[in-house]
Amino acid sequence: MANLQRIALGKNGPQVSKLGLGCMRMSSTWGSATRDEAESVATIQAALDNGINFLNTGDFYGHGHNELLVGKAVKGRRDDAFISVKFGAIFHNGQWLGLDLRPIAIKNFINYSLVRLGVETIDLYQPCRLDNSVPVEDVIGTVADLIKEGKVRHLGVSEITAEQLRKANSVYPVSALEIGYSLADRQIEKDLLPTAKELGIAVVAFANTAEGLLTGEMKAPLPADSYLNHFSRFQGDNLVKNLEKVEVLKSIAAAKGLTPTQLAIAWVNAQGDHIMPLVSMSKRSRLPENIRAMEVQITSEEMNALNTAFAPGAIVGSTYLVR
Ligand SMILES: NC(=O)c1ccc[n+]([C@@H]2O[C@H](COP(=O)([O-])OP(=O)(O)OC[C@H]3O[C@@H](n4cnc5c(N)ncnc54)[C@H](OP(=O)(O)O)[C@@H]3O)[C@@H](O)[C@H]2O)c1
Repeated sequence: MANLQRIALGKNGPQVSKLGLGCMRMSSTWGSATRDEAESVATIQAALDNGINFLNTGDFYGHGHNELLVGKAVKGRRDDAFISVKFGAIFHNGQWLGLDLRPIAIKNFINYSLVRLGVETIDLYQPCRLDNSVPVEDVIGTVADLIKEGKVRHLGVSEITAEQLRKANSVYPVSALEIGYSLADRQIEKDLLPTAKELGIAVVAFANTAEGLLTGEMKAPLPADSYLNHFSRFQGDNLVKNLEKVEVLKSIAAAKGLTPTQLAIAWVNAQGDHIMPLVSMSKRSRLPENIRAMEVQITSEEMNALNTAFAPGAIVGSTYLVR
């Protein structure tokens, strides 16, 4: 088993692996294909075998399919896993319809999640977003009730503002904030990251590869059927300019004997003891490469070169993370 670093989720919170496994892409969520199910389950189990115990899913990932996969993988070894579940997103045929954060809905969602996962308690339960349709107090208060009932252990939040984070944390202590963060997407550095740090909340950082941009494998133009073509970051001259920045990442990575993805993950990992890289891996072959990324040390010269090439705003165009 790899000797993975650990991270505390929140003040005096549970200790989990500092590398998290994102399970979303194992299921069809945004209209993408469902991956090989046996390989997905084997990947989750191999991650657990290697000490990656933080598993991230959502009740809307594949309309429950993703929770079923996680449930299969943890059967008979529940205590090896720390299961994080998002709720509140309503999808129909792969299309996002909106949020349902009503307490009555949350109390319904949780029971279906518990059955699909085959567990008695969800370790970290979090609204996938907050909006103005239901007061924050009611959404967070409902999760706090579920914690009292024993159906949930810890409260998380996702994709929210610094102001919403403060508010949520004032209703019930937030253990973790799940948010997009990478060399290409640094907008949270201004308010949200300092607020999480001040409040002692762990940051579960997803999209470390910026939807594949930082893997070094992307070429312009993208295949016509790629869903990324919807976002201006991946279109025409924007993509060409953005890939020029990725050349800097590629050359520093190559000089260190790393892949660009490893360096992109290592950069996120280096941003703080309270920041967890949450990485999608749908096949076992990803694990050794990404686990190794957690051991990478970045020198101050390399960090400066990366931070210069990828200064906030350097990557142009919008994605679903930056509009
Ligand atoms: N809270 C939210 O709003 C939110 C939004 C999006 C995602 N998430 C969570 O965060 C997790 C990660 O987010 P993400 O999928 O957007 O970003 P990501 O971790 O950057 O993954 C993007 C892609 O990178 C690929 N990849 C992983 N390791 C690689 C490597 N070493 N070399 C080349 N490619 C590699 C993965 O491929 P394979 O799948 O083929 O292995 C995946 O398709 C998700 O699984 C989900 O649990 C949360």
